[in-house]
Amino acid sequence: MSYIIALTIHIISIVIWIGGVAFVTMVTFPMILRMDKSLEMVLMFQGTEHRFGKIAKLMVILAGLSGLYLIYEKGISSGVWLMIVIWSFYAALLFGLEKMIFKRLFARPSNDMDTKKVFNILQTFHWVVLGLSLLAIIAGIYAGHY
Ligand code: HEM
Repeated sequence: MSYIIALTIHIISIVIWIGGVAFVTMVTFPMILRMDKSLEMVLMFQGTEHRFGKIAKLMVILAGLSGLYLIYEKGISSGVWLMIVIWSFYAALLFGLEKMIFKRLFARPSNDMDTKKVFNILQTFHWVVLGLSLLAIIAGIYAGHY
């Protein structure tokens, strides 16, 4: 019973967190890239990031804790290792690395053209992160069923 509860928490937190990443990548970034003014773009991005950042942090913590409990119940396999590696990358991004990258990227732009370039880089980066997330989901399904 407690295994099912932990698995439910694991999956729900992952749905909210990776669903959010998918939404930002596939909806918010294209909206931002259609805007003309640098200021508009930065405000829209910061507004989304500020709200979703908190939710994502909480979900990453819940996914990690429930994952630990699942290891305690079911043991560890190579699929679980892959989830842990990708989870660690996310945790590093959310709890520090992302701020460092953004600071560097936003240190330079001075006109609307530069801002568009920065957001193009950020969108590509989010596609990579989303791809990795999907890989972690595949690893989870594999770990659970083979
Ligand atoms: C990127 C983050 C993660 C994703 C997307 C993810 C995804 C999943 C998914 C989809 C399952 C499916 C289980 C099923 O089909 O029954 C699962 C199971 C599991 N996850 Fe994760 N997970 C992540 C992070 C973690 C972490 C950090 C840990 C360990 C600390 C972990 C440990 C486990 C374990 C032990 C199972 C159960 C495997 C089994 O039933 O044998 N996961 N995960």
